[in-house]
Amino acid sequence: MYIGELSLQNFRNYNYLNLVLHPGINVFVGDNAQGKTNILEAIYLCATARSHRTNKEREVIKWDQDDAHIKMKIQKKYVEDTIDFHIDNRGKGVAVNRIPIKRLGDLLGVLNVVMFSPEDLKMVKRSPGERRRFIDIELSQLDRVYYDALGKFHKVLKQRNNLLKKFDNINDASNVLEVWDLQMIEYGSIVINKRQDFINELQEIAQEIHYNISGGKEKLEIVYEPSVTTKQYQERLTANHQKDIFRRSTSIGPHRDDMAFLINDMDVRTYGSQGQQRTVVLSIKLAQLRMIQGILGEQPVLLLDDVLSELDYHRQQFLFTHTKDIQTLITCTGIEEGVWNKQNIGKLFKVNKGVVS
Ligand SMILES: Nc1ncnc2c1ncn2[C@@H]1O[C@H](COP(=O)(O)OP(=O)(O)OP(=O)(O)O)[C@@H](O)[C@H]1O
Ligand SMILES: [Mg+2]
Repeated sequence: MYIGELSLQNFRNYNYLNLVLHPGINVFVGDNAQGKTNILEAIYLCATARSHRTNKEREVIKWDQDDAHIKMKIQKKYVEDTIDFHIDNRGKGVAVNRIPIKRLGDLLGVLNVVMFSPEDLKMVKRSPGERRRFIDIELSQLDRVYYDALGKFHKVLKQRNNLLKKFDNINDASNVLEVWDLQMIEYGSIVINKRQDFINELQEIAQEIHYNISGGKEKLEIVYEPSVTTKQYQERLTANHQKDIFRRSTSIGPHRDDMAFLINDMDVRTYGSQGQQRTVVLSIKLAQLRMIQGILGEQPVLLLDDVLSELDYHRQQFLFTHTKDIQTLITCTGIEEGVWNKQNIGKLFKVNKGVVS
């Protein structure tokens, strides 16, 4: 699939923007703070229903305006889909093919993207929360059942935690908690199983890619580290009642999951070099492209925000040979001859203070 047309209105620093994109490589060049990333953010928002850099979507509305609009036309193998995304102070509203959708989940899958930005390093370096965020966003794009189960799980988790704040002793609480526990287990188990399958598949593909990028020197393993297995879920929830009441929060479950990256058995999260950490992210992104293609039978759109300058020549070339038939939007502050000569740039855009030419 590829984005044929994109228009923005009162989005970030854009008053109005209308772009016809190339099905191949689109390059956005400009100085810092001109609006390059803003374009990618708008696209990402339409694909995942969330921004890659903020949880407060109202921030994307142009200052001094009341609402923002994103519109796009997506060309697929056999159909054309349109997305109309609208954000105001009350929230978000979306129409797909001009029909308003009731739930944001209905947007997932209309447009599939893989985004690669310097911030992705957080996934390797920072807290488990960043890694769960990655899994959740990527898996939700691919699997509606996961998206729904995750939403329900978090709802029950919130209710259970509220309840825990009301009890002082375990005798009052245990019977009531058990009712919530059953619901947590129902949705939580779906989340755990689907995360396990996702990471298994990702690991298999990413391992091969990473092996090739590293010239056969590095064996990458991605390991799911669930807080609890589905088998032990009930038993451990019950065993933790006392502790949960004392702490007034739920101590085990998918909301505490993590994932590990190992290179030749070394934990990249703590011991990996900057370059190794970057290569792991690159391998994961390329693996995602292949996974999405396998599941949908369509190529997703690739968004590369400022990453080329961070990859060495060998890795840049590797990236390009793996993204041949994929619509790619690249942002950068300058174009280095050596890298670009070989590439077929479909369209080159200059971005200057919210104006694209
Ligand atoms: N809600 C908003 N309303 C108006 N302008 C905004 C809003 N949010 C951000 N901006 C402006 O958008 C600009 C940043 O745009 P963006 O992040 O796309 O820059 P960039 O071209 O990617 O720069 P860099 O090369 O530094 O990454 C800043 O000048 C910022 O002031
Ligand atoms: Mg930027």
